[in-house]
Amino acid sequence: MCGIVSYIGDQDPVPILIKGLRRLEYRGYDSAGIALLDGSILSSVKKAGKVSELSDQISSNTIKGSCGIAHTRWATHGIPNDVNAHPHLDKTGKIALVHNGIIENYDAIKKTLESRGVIFKSETDSEVLVQLISELYYNGDGKLDFKDSVKAALQEVVGAYGIVAMCSDEPNTLVAARMGSPLVFGVGDNEFLFASDASPIIEFTRNVIYLDDGEFVIVKGSEYSISNINSKEIVTKTLTKIDLTIEEIEKGEFPHFMLKEIHDQKHSISDTLRGRLNLDDGTSMLGGINDHIPSILSASRIYITACGTSWHAGLIGKHLIEEYARVPVHVEYASEFRYRNAIIDANTILIAISQSGETADTLAAIKKSKEAGALTLGICNVVGSTISRETDAGIFTHAGPEIGVASTKAFTAQVTVLIMLALKIGRKKGVSLYRGKDLIKSLKNIDLNVTDILKGINKIKEVAKSTFKANNYLYLGRGVNFPVALEGALKLKEISYIHAEGYPAAEMKHGPIALIDKDMPVVFIAPQDDTFTKILSNIEEVKARGGIIITITDKENDALSSLSDFVLVTPKTHKYVFPINSSIILQILAYELAVCRGCDIDQPRNLAKSVTVE
Ligand code: F6R
Repeated sequence: MCGIVSYIGDQDPVPILIKGLRRLEYRGYDSAGIALLDGSILSSVKKAGKVSELSDQISSNTIKGSCGIAHTRWATHGIPNDVNAHPHLDKTGKIALVHNGIIENYDAIKKTLESRGVIFKSETDSEVLVQLISELYYNGDGKLDFKDSVKAALQEVVGAYGIVAMCSDEPNTLVAARMGSPLVFGVGDNEFLFASDASPIIEFTRNVIYLDDGEFVIVKGSEYSISNINSKEIVTKTLTKIDLTIEEIEKGEFPHFMLKEIHDQKHSISDTLRGRLNLDDGTSMLGGINDHIPSILSASRIYITACGTSWHAGLIGKHLIEEYARVPVHVEYASEFRYRNAIIDANTILIAISQSGETADTLAAIKKSKEAGALTLGICNVVGSTISRETDAGIFTHAGPEIGVASTKAFTAQVTVLIMLALKIGRKKGVSLYRGKDLIKSLKNIDLNVTDILKGINKIKEVAKSTFKANNYLYLGRGVNFPVALEGALKLKEISYIHAEGYPAAEMKHGPIALIDKDMPVVFIAPQDDTFTKILSNIEEVKARGGIIITITDKENDALSSLSDFVLVTPKTHKYVFPINSSIILQILAYELAVCRGCDIDQPRNLAKSVTVE
């Protein structure tokens, strides 16, 4: 989704902003732009397409300045083109603004401004905001300075925003504000940055302030102050040190971030487990939720809410928590949950799962549940993210930064946390020491499993080479492996643009079986557990109709070999750890299919890494 980076300090802002935009590319975007303030001269360049195209234009069209704002836009209002790209300038050309989020009442404000003679250049909601600021500043009664005009404009808009703005009447000054759209403020030595996430900041400073909703910052030269959008009252914030290395946000020797992150699973799952397993007691130690264990144990229901891949992790979590903790779990898409009349009360626990910790719908579901009295727990990957701060307590996945748009290592880390959570509650509720130890022993072998799976990449490449021309793919699994099927299908759709569906294997007969012919690859997730004989019959049914059968199992046998065109074997493990193994195979399969099809794997079309608007 849109990305903001801004710089004010002693260095030339142009290379810093361009590099910052490159760091934000992973969020997904369709155009980019930059504006600079050089004394009282404001200039800007904006371009549809990639940051590299913007950068080429800038080198041939030199612009300079002492501070600047830059943006990658992911279109919401108005098509991706040069005019709709940010920064947006007001009618005088003296104020420039970058905006993430959505101004919901933009139409009414636009009509009022148009009636006063303002002519809009773009179709965006963001331009409405800069024109409103300009109207209040230049055409008000003269009482408002630039900073107060921005505040006054923000008080009129409804919606979500993270903004940074500057005005040529106020050289060497940036103002920024946040309401519902993330903004990190980097505080360096005589230099300051604003960015949508920490990745463009860490080369300059590790000291950041995570802005909260309603906060407003003004930086003038080497001084800054933070206040509330609605008042002059100064807000005191503490600096947070970011613990992120440059290597973690670069792809190193790998051709794509996604492949790097698939390989990272050799350590990201055990990083998530580190210090949290107690084999002797057959349980897990989750410090972040310790104080809330009594409420969790007495809860009458648990909702898990999330979007996309994180929602799939939630479905796996339902199987685990119901199996071990024997409490009803409802897994809800956050976008639906936030608007439906769900039964939420003080005996309800809401678990929100989010890699980014910034997904707008998930955040709204948390707010709604809190208001209704539920205890809210977050499972997040990004430390300092809004969801990790808004929930009452939580458990971090320690997967490290995930840059590839298609979630991989964050998903397996989420499943890992859910296993530990189910175990923790389960052991408190009477699950035997033996069962606890059994699960922990399998978790402790996870690094070896991943290494083994990665050694089998060539076999997965063969499957990709023989099936990449297919127009459709079907993924089938049963029980805890049905969500794995959904996740496999989502991965494929996202990065290869092959249409794919995930289905419970036995449901196939109720419809999707009509699709099966000799051109349809069907992936079966078929571990040798209590569902095996049933899924074998489903494989027979596909075989009888000529489908191409790709089986993922933990133990090959004659029946599977004779029925399947390809068998991909993962190391034998616990029934509830197997989804981690099989998901990694499916990630590699999606990746290799996308490579065969020549797709832009790290920046798939139309997708954003973190969906910060509704
Ligand atoms: C798919 C993917 C998305 C995200 C979804 C939720 O590969 O990455 O479906 O899972 O947008 O994002 P988070 O987990 O950041 O809330």
